[in-house]
Amino acid sequence: MARATLDVRKQKLKKEYDKQASLYDVCLEKHLSIKNRAPLSSEWVRGMEAEDKNFIRLANPKSGEVALDMACGTGRVFLKLVEKRCIVHGIDISEKMLSILKRKIAERRISNSGEIAIGSIEKTGYNARYFDLVTCMGAMDYYPLSFARKVLSEAKRVLKPEGRVVIDFPLLGGELFEEFKKGEEKDGIRVYAYPQEKIEKAIQKSGLKIKKIVRAGMEFQFLLKKR
Ligand SMILES: C[S@@+](CC[C@H](N)C(=O)[O-])C[C@H]1O[C@@H](n2cnc3c(N)ncnc32)[C@H](O)[C@@H]1O
Repeated sequence: MARATLDVRKQKLKKEYDKQASLYDVCLEKHLSIKNRAPLSSEWVRGMEAEDKNFIRLANPKSGEVALDMACGTGRVFLKLVEKRCIVHGIDISEKMLSILKRKIAERRISNSGEIAIGSIEKTGYNARYFDLVTCMGAMDYYPLSFARKVLSEAKRVLKPEGRVVIDFPLLGGELFEEFKKGEEKDGIRVYAYPQEKIEKAIQKSGLKIKKIVRAGMEFQFLLKKR
């Protein structure tokens, strides 16, 4: 994807998530569709619960580890890592999503949060080999694999030699994904899904090694390591 097209896409997503930010947590907690506030089907609820549970299980966060949650939003993964006593940094393109996360950090007097940065995940600005764990949930749905490769390379760069990455990609052709796609496309947001082999190839090209793949909800969740 040409740089100018990618910049337009990022700006569109920033605008969309700035707009959704005040509804995001309420909809997540009450199992409502963010698009029209209608109750989600039991398949959706089960799917989202499975995504949450399996993602954290794969990440296996340990007390004292330094983690980066890419596309952290309002903290769905970030806050779980905090609970496990990691020192957690977050980066997201939406200022409004981040301001909700910052409010939670202040209200809950969370002392083990690191920096919360506004930025794009393919270029985080962190030093090389800084993190034990890099997570990225719910962002790859919005980008072509060429961008995913950049994100994976960045994750590898900032990861310590024994560190791990947990990242999800949507399941091509899954019922939940097709429903999600329809909703996003109604709002003019393009979403992307690829066959498993193509995702695996992109991961291999980044130099990261696949250690485990789990299917949960509408996503493939990958546990990756440097070696
Ligand atoms: C579906 S939400 C997921 C948020 C959070 N990880 C979660 O699971 O609730 C997608 C998030 O990706 C963020 N995002 C999209 N493109 C991004 C980019 N290029 N860099 C950083 N964040 C991005 C959006 O702002 C939004 O917060």
